[in-house]
Amino acid sequence: ADNMLWGGRFTQGLDPVMEQYNASLPYDRRFYTQDIAGSIAFARANMNNGILTADEFAAIEKGLGEVKKEWANNTFEVKANDEDIHTANERRLGEIIGKDIAGKLHTGRSRNDQVATDMRLWLRDELRKIEKILEDFVKVNIARAENEIDVLIPGYTHLQKAQPVRWSHWVLSHATAFASELERLREVIKRVNRSPLGCGALAGNPFNIDREAMAKELGFEGLLYNSLNAVGDRDFVFETLQWGSSFMLKISRWAEDLIIYSSLEFGFVRLADAYSTGSSLMPQKKNSDSLELLRGKSGRAFGQMAGLFCTIKGLPTTYNKDLQESVEPLIDHIKTVSDSILIATGVLSTLTIFPEKMHAALTPEMLATEFADYLVRKGVPFREGHHISGRVVALAESEGVPMDKLSLEQLKGIDARLGDDVVECLDYERAVELKSAIGGTSKSAVREQIVILKKTLESN
Ligand code: ARG
Repeated sequence: ADNMLWGGRFTQGLDPVMEQYNASLPYDRRFYTQDIAGSIAFARANMNNGILTADEFAAIEKGLGEVKKEWANNTFEVKANDEDIHTANERRLGEIIGKDIAGKLHTGRSRNDQVATDMRLWLRDELRKIEKILEDFVKVNIARAENEIDVLIPGYTHLQKAQPVRWSHWVLSHATAFASELERLREVIKRVNRSPLGCGALAGNPFNIDREAMAKELGFEGLLYNSLNAVGDRDFVFETLQWGSSFMLKISRWAEDLIIYSSLEFGFVRLADAYSTGSSLMPQKKNSDSLELLRGKSGRAFGQMAGLFCTIKGLPTTYNKDLQESVEPLIDHIKTVSDSILIATGVLSTLTIFPEKMHAALTPEMLATEFADYLVRKGVPFREGHHISGRVVALAESEGVPMDKLSLEQLKGIDARLGDDVVECLDYERAVELKSAIGGTSKSAVREQIVILKKTLESN
């Protein structure tokens, strides 16, 4: 056990199963850049403290540069005792510059503040990439909404035809949700990007290390101000998993809509071949697997969130090895969310829409509310108008004709206040344009939504 980082008090080696059970290098090796940047910042601060001489710091910085190159070129040789990225890097640094100097690097540091530093640096950069691709996705939504503003579709409640709306209005309904996620993400990034470095194992640093200087060097926006909290806190992971779960929930509902709209029965949209797959048995099939995976992977994302909550809820304060279990779900979650955004962007930017099919799906009964609104404009109380309009629907049903095929006489027979001008109620475009108050589906109201979304994109 002497060659282990912490081997001094141990007399026996690890059980081989324990060794692999304990090891996190297979996944935390991806933090090598962050681990090395953190070590350089830490060594520099310890030089400014007088713990390291300028020459020692120079040797450490140069040696760590070489370690980094080995990871980058895939020539880093992992040894049996390399438990995690921190252990592996320090072991290798010792081989390159000698143990006498390398052995001074970890003065006043613990892997507890080190791992939290690595994870936050890595996550901050990943979330910034996600922010960028999410912005691009919202832009694709906006572009479609702008270009296809004339297209009408049935709007649904309970998946039953309700009232006509603009296709763009539907697009923006989801884009608005995605933009909220963008705003939330920007908040999350702020709290992820705080430095635990210099908090030691739990109690703080005994050499008066300049934590602010280290944070600045690493691009952190602030510090964590309680050392016990800094090493035991995984709020930054929770918040990310909560955010990602919320985003995946939104994308899942979006995908569900498009799965329905792309079915033969609806036929409103068609996915590009690039995002569909065929059946190994039925030659005619073209399935919207991309959308089904977006919907399906949301379950995995929620599981990661719930799993980590269970892992952490009973832990005593500060670091416990259980926290290592936050790393793998986080890595997978980030990949799932960012791949999902890319897939959704691809699906939406290559989607074919069929405006005639959408229009053909509009039915006169979707205008029944217009009859009630028409009567309201003639001074009839809405409740009574609703009732009269309901009788129009019932008559059409009993006559076995669509509502627009009833004669004016039949309409007047129901209520004399249904005058000659009532036919205007049967115009889908007019029904849509009447919804002109803020947030509605008229052209001007939809354009206002686009302006607001663009502002959200820019507000950073
Ligand atoms: N690989 C560990 C993790 O991810 C690093 C911290 C280990 N610290 C310790 N005291 N055992 O959590």
